[in-house]
Amino acid sequence: MSNNRVKPLIQSRVSLAPMAGITDYVLRSLIRKYSKSCLLTTEMISSEFLAQVKGGDIIKRDEDHSPISYQISGHKPHLMKAAAEYLSPIADMIDINMGCPVNKVVKGQDGCSLMRNPSLAADLVKAVKDGTDKPVSVKFRLGYTFDELNFVEFGQQMQEAGAEFITIHGRTRSQMYSGNADWKSIRKLKENVDIPVFANGDITSIETAIECLEQSKADGIAIGRGVLGDPTLLHRIEQYLHNGKYIQPPSLEERLGMLKWHLDEEIKLRGEKVGIKIFRKFYPYYIAGIKNAAKIRSILVTEDDYGNILKTLELLLSV
Ligand SMILES: Cc1cc2nc3c(=O)[nH]c(=O)nc-3n(C[C@H](O)[C@H](O)[C@H](O)COP(=O)(O)O)c2cc1C
Repeated sequence: MSNNRVKPLIQSRVSLAPMAGITDYVLRSLIRKYSKSCLLTTEMISSEFLAQVKGGDIIKRDEDHSPISYQISGHKPHLMKAAAEYLSPIADMIDINMGCPVNKVVKGQDGCSLMRNPSLAADLVKAVKDGTDKPVSVKFRLGYTFDELNFVEFGQQMQEAGAEFITIHGRTRSQMYSGNADWKSIRKLKENVDIPVFANGDITSIETAIECLEQSKADGIAIGRGVLGDPTLLHRIEQYLHNGKYIQPPSLEERLGMLKWHLDEEIKLRGEKVGIKIFRKFYPYYIAGIKNAAKIRSILVTEDDYGNILKTLELLLSV
């Protein structure tokens, strides 16, 4: 790793991958309760949106959230520059989304469609750099389809344009989230750029983290869905990587404690009605693997009353 500006931000070798609607202020705070030094990343923030609406929960952070990267999306250099200028005072790094596979996003020339337009992608890196003195990073996939696996050249072009850090998801856009992430191919990128590379995709345990690092030879790893139901995962992986300490995943009782903290904080942030609704997507992960999970999940995801939610959770502990 040659890049000194980025090095202090990624010394933990583990980052939280951005997930729209998931890695909000509350989940970031929950991850930070356990991992004191992982690189947090916000959900993707649209530069078009930021041009109209300033502030809001999406950009909220606490002091202890550093190191934190703010991810922005878009395809218009002047808006991306403006987004970077706006976020720069609160961000430790600005990341550009070049990997989102969602139809609506790629049709608008954002996200992974930028992998088909490397010169625009490079212009976006330059524009964002014009708007901030913080390091600028990019997150992309292996390519748009298996016939367009341009990740090595693309990474080199982004580096040339001034990107100082790369996160790469080992799938193509056409795969969306199907199949397995290809960690081995990531090694080709690592060997052909000078900036640090984090590998991403399908890391859900200490074992898969080690396997991914071994296959990819990446400088670190980014974890998305693996934190769902286990917000200690990043901390546990760090402890293993740095101290050789193997910490077991949280027990059901611990997971339910985390669930309650997560739910309570969503309610504090958004009010009871919205907080409870927003939280519904998280129940299945926290209660996965327990007896009668499907039945209990169906109760929790339709329940609007906070008192009843707590009663259901208490029942879970008594069985
Ligand atoms: C619900 C959801 C939302 C996501 N939102 C974003 C996003 O806003 N920006 C981004 O770069 N990637 C996004 N991703 C992709 C993840 O960052 C990550 O690359 C992908 O999930 C693979 O990693 P994982 O197997 O560790 O989850 C999202 C993924 C999911 C499942």
